[in-house]
Amino acid sequence: MENKIKVLIPEDQVEAKVKEIGEKISRDYAGKEVHLICVLKGGVFFTCELAKRITVPVSLDFMSVSSYGAGTQSSGVVKIIKDLDEPLAGKHVLIVEDIIDSGRTLSYLIEILKQRGPADIRICTLLDKPSRRVKKEVQVDYTCFSIPDEFVVGYGLDYDQKYRNLPYIGAVEV
Ligand code: IMP
Ligand code: MG
Repeated sequence: MENKIKVLIPEDQVEAKVKEIGEKISRDYAGKEVHLICVLKGGVFFTCELAKRITVPVSLDFMSVSSYGAGTQSSGVVKIIKDLDEPLAGKHVLIVEDIIDSGRTLSYLIEILKQRGPADIRICTLLDKPSRRVKKEVQVDYTCFSIPDEFVVGYGLDYDQKYRNLPYIGAVEV
């Protein structure tokens, strides 16, 4: 069944913001290398676009964790599905997320990645739903857009594994 999608953030606005955040990251990491950790699958479109806008040397790794089932509710259960390929010791790690909702996924990720001895860990997210935060201690360093509590799709985000490929951020009309 097809769902009706309402455009929330059009493609040109997403692109302009990703470019701006990429430039900010390039300035902040001047003279260093940045190790991007893409949180699969939702973070993949944003990570690729962001990486293209970063001018300091970039390395990439991928991790997959599960926090949601097929619906739109957080289960609170976070499990590693695919771990990183590379060690993190001494690296300037930047975790790239599609969206921070309750913050449970990120809070868990930070805890396990910290134990691997990176030089530092920062967080970059395409979207943030601050009103939904349960893990208040999670500090986000780079946010492209803060949005209200609406279920969104596109630019990597899915609804039942669909709509990740939309080039804009949309809201599912239910
Ligand atoms: P958290 O652990 O509650 O912060 O959930 C984070 C994860 O839930 C994100 O990485 C997404 O995969 C998923 N998620 C949260 N809100 C949305 C949404 O509005 N649309 C699609 N996925 C979402
Ligand atoms: Mg995700």
